[in-house]
Amino acid sequence: MDLNPKEKLISEINEKIKICKLCDLYKIRKNAVPGEGNINSKIMLIGLGPGKDEDIQGRPFVGAAGKFLNELLNLVGIKREEVYITNVVKCIPPNNKPNEHQIFICTSNYLDKQIEVIKPRLIITLGEIATKYIFEKNGKKFVNMSIHGKVFEFKNYFVLPMFHPASALYNPSLKEKIINDWLKNKEFIRKFLAKLE
Ligand code: URA
Repeated sequence: MDLNPKEKLISEINEKIKICKLCDLYKIRKNAVPGEGNINSKIMLIGLGPGKDEDIQGRPFVGAAGKFLNELLNLVGIKREEVYITNVVKCIPPNNKPNEHQIFICTSNYLDKQIEVIKPRLIITLGEIATKYIFEKNGKKFVNMSIHGKVFEFKNYFVLPMFHPASALYNPSLKEKIINDWLKNKEFIRKFLAKLE
């Protein structure tokens, strides 16, 4: 199958991720998880990193948090295939806590390149680690997730920080807040769908 230039670049990044040994996370992974979805989408979702299910399947957000994420996408009338979904780190981090070095290695080699090639116009950051990374990458100070559900306009894209869907699993009272944040931004998010190439 002939790949167009964008498909080729993404597939090259994916192949590198799958065999990556640039930090010690490769020692405990079953599968690296590059990301998946529509590479022409104007919407990119960025989570923290693979959990157990993602590590087994090599796909992002396929476990319990992924099930809730699918519901949230459904709620705003978006299909998973219409967005691109990836993570800050591509290998399962112990206790969901990648260290600074692992984040630096993985973002500078992979996430930054995925953003550069896919060129999203809206990045929905899921949780603190992704939000902090995208804010600081754009020279903005990140304090905490009190900015959830608010839209920020950065140089190359809008950023919409959302609570991580897994936080609703640990803290059910957050579930309603998360649903409200998605519903509140429904029209704004959907605007970017029309711009599919
Ligand atoms: N949590 C994440 O941050 N990413 C996944 O892919 C799955 C769970």
